[in-house]
Amino acid sequence: MSGSYIAGKTIVVGVTGGIAAYKAVEVCRRLVDAGAHVIPVMTAGAEHFIGRTTLSALCSEPVQTSLWDEASPIPHTRLGQSADLILVVPATARLIGAYTAGLSTDLLTNILLATRAPVVICPAMHTEMWEHPAVQDNLAVLARRGVIIVEPDEGRLAGGDSGKGRLASPERIIAAIERTLGPTDLAGTRLVVTAGGTREPIDAVRVIANRSSGKQGYAIASVAASRGATVTLISTVGLPTPVGVDLVSVETAAQMQAAVSHAAQTADIVIMAAAVADFRPKTVVANKIKKGDGIPDIVLEPTPDILAALGATKRPGQILVGFAAETDDLVANAGAKLQRKNLDLIVANDVSAPGVGFQHDTNAVCLLRPEGPMVTIDLTDKHSIAGAVIDAIVEIRAGLT
Ligand code: C5P
Repeated sequence: MSGSYIAGKTIVVGVTGGIAAYKAVEVCRRLVDAGAHVIPVMTAGAEHFIGRTTLSALCSEPVQTSLWDEASPIPHTRLGQSADLILVVPATARLIGAYTAGLSTDLLTNILLATRAPVVICPAMHTEMWEHPAVQDNLAVLARRGVIIVEPDEGRLAGGDSGKGRLASPERIIAAIERTLGPTDLAGTRLVVTAGGTREPIDAVRVIANRSSGKQGYAIASVAASRGATVTLISTVGLPTPVGVDLVSVETAAQMQAAVSHAAQTADIVIMAAAVADFRPKTVVANKIKKGDGIPDIVLEPTPDILAALGATKRPGQILVGFAAETDDLVANAGAKLQRKNLDLIVANDVSAPGVGFQHDTNAVCLLRPEGPMVTIDLTDKHSIAGAVIDAIVEIRAGLT
């Protein structure tokens, strides 16, 4: 993973005895790939679900399971003190209960009590257990103590059931770790970012849409949150909401404008990464237009230019960032847009280039500011692009203060 804050960190990964224990293997592998020194610890329950050899082979040290390992008489203090972060994946109701109560009954709970490092726990259990007031109360106490909780997803559970309690995806778990280990140079700021393409209704079932996937906007939301911003993501798409981000779902340009202008009133930074339609049908037919009624004349009208309106009413110190998807004269067109919309930064991408822009997981961009150098970022993943956009914003803020 590029731009990772995980590289070089020592992470103790506690695996407890839930069926999701097998998914801890993938998380460990990703942490090792990202350059972490990963020390696995298993509870007795975890050993019913996965083998020690699997984790020992994948991680940076052999698995530890016991407090009474003679070679290392007090492993919990060594492990607790040497860790930059403790991750518990999955965290069972028993582990959550013992940790909340301060019961040091096994190696993992001892480590949790013996550490000053940040702790990230990823609960996974059946919906009934997840919803039990004892579990929810314990989690509330842990959250108040500063433990980072990666909420489970909804989905298929063991035994054919379905509901909330499924372990969060490896992506969400890694993002939470990045967020915990990363710099917090946006701490105390409120950031609004839009994502996805708007859908403008023609009739009851048809829309005018565009190819935007929303991935770049979501990557920005995720990176901004991990760097300490309070993030509102205004989105037209249903990608998984990044950890710690408030989601506002919209569909049309008008709905997006209402949500953005409301959120922008208290925002320090507004990033319009969404592909907002420039035109919409002037009238929306309430029912479905019948095929047999002939080809309809769809008359279009312009949508409000949300970003231009924000630029016209920008508060002192507020930073406005726009996107320019161009197919020719990239820098000239983006530069003109920067001026016209009174922006502080524009992220320009040539969407005709291979691997760039809509739908892709990668992007290549130029970052332009009213004055200051142009930054060119060659083809890379959208998280790295998001990191570069946030770096530029942090630089602009430093110049403002
Ligand atoms: O002028 P153009 O539509 O190419 O500008 C693109 C930028 O303006 C993007 O950041 C996009 O989110 C924003 N935009 C907007 N409202 C519109 C159209 C585009 O805020 N109606």
